[in-house]
Amino acid sequence: MKNAMRPSTLSTLGLGNVIDIFANGKLPTNTGELVDKVFGPAGKRGALVVSGANGIVGAGKVMQLGSRLEPFGIPIVALDFPGVPDGIGQQYPGLVRAFGSDSAAKVMSNVVQFSYDGKSLPARLSDFNPRFLLEAIPEILEIKKAHFDLFTKTFPGIEIRSVTSGFPQSQLGVGIAHPAFPHEINKIYEIVENEPSSVTQLLWALGLIPMMVSDDWAFVLDVFFCGLTLAASRYHETSNMPYWKIDKFVRRLIGPNPFRAHDAIGAAGANFLTWSCLHHLSKHYGDLFTPSTVLEEKMTSGQNWYPLNHFRPLVDWALSDEENQDFEVRLLGPMFQMTSLMVHEKRSHMATMNAIGELCAQFTRGLPAVIRARGADASRQLVEQYHQLHPEAAGGAWHPEAFDAIGSPEWQQLYVNAEHDGTVGVISIGREAYNSDVNVEMNRAINWLKAEGDFHLTTQLTGADTGDFFPALEDAEMGVAIAKGWSETARRLHSEFAVSVGFVNGKRALGGMLELLMHCHHLVAVDDASLGPVVPGMEGCHWPFRRVAKEHWPRLLSFLLEGRAVRAPKALDWLVDFAGPLEEALAAAWNTATGGDFGLPAREFADGALSGVADTVPPLDPAGDPGMEAGRVAILANIKGSTSVPLAEALDVQARHSGNFMTTKACLSGVIGGMYKKTVKI
Ligand SMILES: NC(=O)c1ccc[n+]([C@@H]2O[C@H](COP(=O)([O-])OP(=O)(O)OC[C@H]3O[C@@H](n4cnc5c(N)ncnc54)[C@H](O)[C@@H]3O)[C@@H](O)[C@H]2O)c1
Repeated sequence: MKNAMRPSTLSTLGLGNVIDIFANGKLPTNTGELVDKVFGPAGKRGALVVSGANGIVGAGKVMQLGSRLEPFGIPIVALDFPGVPDGIGQQYPGLVRAFGSDSAAKVMSNVVQFSYDGKSLPARLSDFNPRFLLEAIPEILEIKKAHFDLFTKTFPGIEIRSVTSGFPQSQLGVGIAHPAFPHEINKIYEIVENEPSSVTQLLWALGLIPMMVSDDWAFVLDVFFCGLTLAASRYHETSNMPYWKIDKFVRRLIGPNPFRAHDAIGAAGANFLTWSCLHHLSKHYGDLFTPSTVLEEKMTSGQNWYPLNHFRPLVDWALSDEENQDFEVRLLGPMFQMTSLMVHEKRSHMATMNAIGELCAQFTRGLPAVIRARGADASRQLVEQYHQLHPEAAGGAWHPEAFDAIGSPEWQQLYVNAEHDGTVGVISIGREAYNSDVNVEMNRAINWLKAEGDFHLTTQLTGADTGDFFPALEDAEMGVAIAKGWSETARRLHSEFAVSVGFVNGKRALGGMLELLMHCHHLVAVDDASLGPVVPGMEGCHWPFRRVAKEHWPRLLSFLLEGRAVRAPKALDWLVDFAGPLEEALAAAWNTATGGDFGLPAREFADGALSGVADTVPPLDPAGDPGMEAGRVAILANIKGSTSVPLAEALDVQARHSGNFMTTKACLSGVIGGMYKKTVKI
């Protein structure tokens, strides 16, 4: 028997459930087999062709895919016009930074560059047996279609995916793999295919993040990103506020700086792409998306939004409460309406829609999470207020009923899912940073598992979201409440399951996420995972000491006080119980959770007061700056205070230390305080 709170995002890729990965002891894909399917068997492997390879997207993808496919002997053919600027060369320093000069040179030795006139393919191209074309040429429908014709006539059967920002498959006639900026590093691709294909599964197997979206104009990312730019540009038209200042307020309200982002991507191209997406969306859905006059101008001129010699006035008036409200309606109103449209059209799994905003468009919280927090009725009211200011938008693409399902598991579990097979339950966390949403969803997932039976538990994955601490910077009680509430959730992993195993399968488990996972009875990590550093607020100052023998305390002290990450194998015994290659780690977790042979032995856990934890602090590397030094002093005080009391009292003691530290000068001038000044105190 298998059961889940909601369908996993993995299942949208045809890759089953998370619990199957643990039960089978391996990933659902075999990279070698998928490479064979897409590029042919070893010895006869064909090539990946990237067309438009010197462009912004093309060059980034040559690097990203080149480095991943080189070990499989797949040549990358980079195709572009003669005489165009060397986009690939510009990306090379980044490749060297990521892989070192030897490996970077090796990747490039597998890249062949061809120029052609756009009409007839280079004669020598067939020597490389092209099997897969990633098209990254300009966003002009007729040019793209002619390009596909050229390839399919010359290489019948070639797999083609377009990186288009907005044209649906129904218009282009080929599948879509729309990548998010910055192209050399962002791993997310929106995928449009009738069924998840081997190409998509191969991207996943190569460590990239394909997300299935429906075949609708501009998919999900560009509705959000272009939509936000449009709303911000319309605000400029009504208020005449300068772009840089609008950016500041958008950043505080939603997360991104839409205008600066266009300049960073390259205004000439980005202005056109935004305009193109909105133009086609407006043809299809009406005025909600009609490009504003300033957007039309910027598209035509290709000019930056921020002038280069830009000075900001010394007098920088704040918005009054009324103006703030107006800003919110004009920005969030259209964004909520666009979300209603995409939910109505079922453009993607809800968790995917939410994640695309956060991971690709820099939203502080995904729009579904924002709407959920405000509530269905209040969100609908906001859109109606917006319609009073901009009545043309009410004419279409408004689906108030789309928020009716806000209470469903799909809306309620945007970040955390739970699955079980009747004996073992798995909670998977799909957000890198712990925040109040994850906290609430985590509690619901634990409740759900418990209601379904008494389960063993494996949690999967990865600091805390700094934004959640902003209120605590001015009010110690808020900080105490966060530290207490989150710690109470974490403690459930310890106290409410017969066996719990924390599983770190990513590259990192940082801060709050690591503190959360430490609360499991066992901690298992893949051997290339980095753990920490921890800025303790979720029991990091006493919990780890309680689960290890005295001899390991000095190591833990250095780890907490120096604030440096440690590789999983080096953390064996004093922090993790097992570190190894993925399949061995999966087996260790599963055997432990199922109580099978070869499971990890139970750890002793001391719930009384510990004595002498911080009596001898090992020699530490210099803190480097006064802020770090103050942090150390605070952490040490927290360690002393929370270890010297029994477990039942330690929760409050550590929360008080953590809450008090957050209002200090040191914290205000540190990372969280810096972010607070930049985004909220504007
Ligand atoms: N720029 C972005 O951030 C971004 C993000 C996602 C998707 N996209 C999509 O990527 C595609 C390319 O956009 P870009 O921003 O990289 O554009 P770009 O102008 O930077 O690059 C396009 C490249 O294609 C080349 N080219 C033109 N016609 C060609 C042909 N027939 N054959 C081979 N090469 C040809 C050009 O010389 C140029 O080097 C567009 O469809 C766009 O919507 C762009």
